[in-house]
Amino acid sequence: MGVGECKSNDYGAAAYWDARYSSGSPASAAAGCGFFDWYQTYPALRPLLRARVPTSSRVLMLGCGNSLLSEDMVKDGYEDIVNIDISSVVIEQMREKHKEITQLTYMQMDIRDMGFFGDESFDCVLDKGTLDAMMCADDAPHGAFKMLAEVARLLMPHGIYLLITYGAPKERVPLLDQSGCSWSIALYIMPTAGYQLRMSKGAQHLIMEEVTLTEGGQLPPDYVLKDPDSHFIYVCEKLEEKGTNCRDTDPKESTNAN
Ligand SMILES: C[S@@+](CC[C@H](N)C(=O)[O-])C[C@H]1O[C@@H](n2cnc3c(N)ncnc32)[C@H](O)[C@@H]1O
Repeated sequence: MGVGECKSNDYGAAAYWDARYSSGSPASAAAGCGFFDWYQTYPALRPLLRARVPTSSRVLMLGCGNSLLSEDMVKDGYEDIVNIDISSVVIEQMREKHKEITQLTYMQMDIRDMGFFGDESFDCVLDKGTLDAMMCADDAPHGAFKMLAEVARLLMPHGIYLLITYGAPKERVPLLDQSGCSWSIALYIMPTAGYQLRMSKGAQHLIMEEVTLTEGGQLPPDYVLKDPDSHFIYVCEKLEEKGTNCRDTDPKESTNAN
């Protein structure tokens, strides 16, 4: 996925991901040793995760793929991570790989319908690259609305939806606004690992900048993005607001977001 665009509508299709994760496929071979982390890895995200998500949290990992994130989180003390993905191929692989790790469970599921889980059953929902994949699907943006309404339903009051994406606020905040919930959003901007390496001339120094959004949920008008390929990390806290119903949203009524 590139900056603010979809290189392929395939990213929304289960068949594409099944083929990609099948052993022997060219993409799988390119990924090397059976794992691939999109965007960022746990060591880079750790300071933020540990600050905002207690290790005792019940975490839902959306579109887990074969990323190392869940495994690394468990090594660092996280106790309960439910991993879901639309690809039955990757779910089987990950279930087998982590069968000894009781803190990790794997389920094949479409994030547009997570009715299997009860309302307010997670403290944190983690999404690294999966909303971006949904925005490439044939049913975008409706599928993304459905997914976000489900995320809002599944989170406890004050639960955290932590979204790691290529989408800038002008593309992602309107989507969040249409999830049927109100959020308190903190935004962090993280340059790609390659950019950080070039800037630091090899020194191990990870940059994650917190940027205060305007009242309308946008970047300050004078804000300049240092690395145009930066990742945006939204820490969205589900607010418990009187009159807000996070369960009865009809995403089909919402059509004006990206
Ligand atoms: C860009 S990859 C990100 C993988 C992983 N989160 C990471 O950070 O490396 C998107 C993942 O979302 C999954 N996915 C796509 N559409 C989905 C859907 N409707 N329901 C559940 N998972 C989906 C894909 O199978 C793929 O594993």
